[in-house]
Amino acid sequence: MTEEIHFTPLRVLAKERIAEAVFRFDLAHPDDAELPAFTAGAHLRVVVPSGLERRYSLCSDPGATTGYSIAVKREAAGGGGSASLCDTVAAGDLLPCAVPRNDFPLVGKPVGHVFIAGGIGITPIMSMIRHLEAEGGPPWKLYYLTRTPEQTAFLDELRARRGKVVIHHDGGDPDQAYDLWPVMEQPKGRHIHCCGPRGLMQAVRDMAGHWPGSAVHFEDFSAGAAQQRPADTAFRVQLARYGGVLDVPAGTSILQALSEAGHAVPFSCESGTCGTCRTGLLGGAADHRDLVLMPHEAASQIMVCVSRAAPGVDELVLDL
Ligand code: FES
Repeated sequence: MTEEIHFTPLRVLAKERIAEAVFRFDLAHPDDAELPAFTAGAHLRVVVPSGLERRYSLCSDPGATTGYSIAVKREAAGGGGSASLCDTVAAGDLLPCAVPRNDFPLVGKPVGHVFIAGGIGITPIMSMIRHLEAEGGPPWKLYYLTRTPEQTAFLDELRARRGKVVIHHDGGDPDQAYDLWPVMEQPKGRHIHCCGPRGLMQAVRDMAGHWPGSAVHFEDFSAGAAQQRPADTAFRVQLARYGGVLDVPAGTSILQALSEAGHAVPFSCESGTCGTCRTGLLGGAADHRDLVLMPHEAASQIMVCVSRAAPGVDELVLDL
């Protein structure tokens, strides 16, 4: 499904460095008009000055529609989107932005919320905390894992929420990683929202195997390309209902191959976290790279935005 996205220029009211290599951008309508409302956990699609399109979580209060705030980490080793934004954009500039959308919402009626943020993954959690504090809601606790205090955005603001926030710095040493197992051992009717590096999210996914699937939520903006690996090879997908066989070259996702062949599969995050592109798997073993499927679903379902055929498997049969 190809979706046309419209971008409207928003004015950068302020740009502030809030941690090492992290900048907050406050945005408003150029005519001071109200902006479209958003819900906690939503993100903004932005066209950065280099022309790249990027997604950044809103970290401001969803109840405030006179302005949006995003916090962006300048990734020196990234694809250049964050560097273009952080190095080039200044207060007063216009930044093309789409209407916010949300692949990481607060859903259901949990007894409590467990928020787990790694590094700049704190941004959507900030909008959730602001929302719960403004509107009331079940109790929450945040586990915020970063390397150093200097790299920790919103540090003073979060330190002030005593008893609700655990901030842990590991100095980049895996041996100093925070032990989340005591937090996750007993689900107790709570929901988890986790955003951060893929390794952290995979660890949380692995520890949450005994939680209901609907209680564990992830957000990842690294997109499907980040799940590609140098050793990936081409394979085929057979479409059981449409008929026909498609080639999926190395470097191309199943979702892309389907789209190029004119087959519409709903999708959203393209990072294996939202579950929108869930597709029946009728034959062949998959290399699952998502954070959605439970172990008992892996033989019969596949997230086509990131997952591929397992090594040595030439063909998957999809329920399409
Ligand atoms: S589009 Fe979100 S999991 Fe595939």
